[in-house]
Amino acid sequence: MEYRYLGNSGLQISELSFGSWVTFSDQMDEKKAEVCMHTAYDGGVNFFDNAEVYAGGNAELLMGNILKRAGWKRSEYLVSTKIFWGGEGINERGLSRKHIVEGVDNSLMRLQLDYVDLLFCHRPDYQTPIEETVRAMNYIINQGKAFYWGTSEWPVESIMEAYHIARREHLIPPVMEQPEYNMLHRQRVEVDYIPAYDRFDMGLTIWSPLGSGILTGKYSNGIPKDTRASLEKYTYLEGRFSGDRAETNINKVKELAPIAQELGITMPQLALAWCLKNEQVSTVITGASKPEQMEDNLKATDIKAKLTPKVMDRIEMVLDNQPSFPTDFR
Ligand SMILES: NC(=O)c1ccc[n+]([C@@H]2O[C@H](COP(=O)([O-])OP(=O)(O)OC[C@H]3O[C@@H](n4cnc5c(N)ncnc54)[C@H](OP(=O)(O)O)[C@@H]3O)[C@@H](O)[C@H]2O)c1
Repeated sequence: MEYRYLGNSGLQISELSFGSWVTFSDQMDEKKAEVCMHTAYDGGVNFFDNAEVYAGGNAELLMGNILKRAGWKRSEYLVSTKIFWGGEGINERGLSRKHIVEGVDNSLMRLQLDYVDLLFCHRPDYQTPIEETVRAMNYIINQGKAFYWGTSEWPVESIMEAYHIARREHLIPPVMEQPEYNMLHRQRVEVDYIPAYDRFDMGLTIWSPLGSGILTGKYSNGIPKDTRASLEKYTYLEGRFSGDRAETNINKVKELAPIAQELGITMPQLALAWCLKNEQVSTVITGASKPEQMEDNLKATDIKAKLTPKVMDRIEMVLDNQPSFPTDFR
């Protein structure tokens, strides 16, 4: 495993990490999730991602129990949570000071931890002034309940606003963003966020590196049983697995499969290693609904070197989706 700095911070994070969305509680019970977490940790993973909303809080409960039993030194692993959707009440969602402070306390209780290492604003809240959110994050960190804060799926303008408010008011600025990034979803990470990389070397903890499973190749002949796409509770993800856009993507994966085969690696490894080639990425958060997937994915770190410039060009030809940069009028 290799470790990267989280943006412009002194924190080192494993380039592959492990998250709990969809899988913890809804696909895996505590025992299975425990095997996955131990496989990840033994493979050098030091970061585990969570959110108050995952499985209605149960993903944090499971992770907390597993961490407690593991007995790992607290200084040797990183845990995150994300705040936005904490419940149905009008003040249980969003990024008000009230919800951030109460949401973090509830998450820490479920995780049975004194602090999380990384704390994310799970989405932008257009009803709350950004200054209120920046001040609440600053307060949480000063209380010792988190070490670093950042955003998830925020537009670059809002990230820059948060950064400038923090600097102007002598508050703690955000250091990272958690965006979706994979071979099929590139615009924000490769183009839109450039001002934040330039201004404060924003780190990225990227999600859905396999596009929820599409990039594994398992959807070539319809939707197999026992996969994310077959889960009733997650029908809102349907557009990823069926329809015109999905069909185009599945065809691209069919063309990528021979490249993986020639390199002697699996399709998930190819897709994960491709994300790792982007140096702005601090960590690729992987997901696994079975321990053997975790084992397969961990090997991506060793095969990065196989993705030479020539191989990357071949992949680019198949993907045919390189985002365009804004015109330079100088
Ligand atoms: N900030 C945000 O808004 C946000 C949003 C989403 C996710 N996340 C974070 O990012 C993490 C990763 O996202 P993700 O779960 O969508 O990642 P992903 O890598 O795109 O999808 C993971 C899924 O792909 C399948 N898979 C994984 N490895 C495989 C392998 N080797 N062979 C075959 N199938 C494999 C499994 O699904 P099957 O059950 O179908 O086999 C697995 O659950 C989440 O756990 C969460 O922590 C954050």
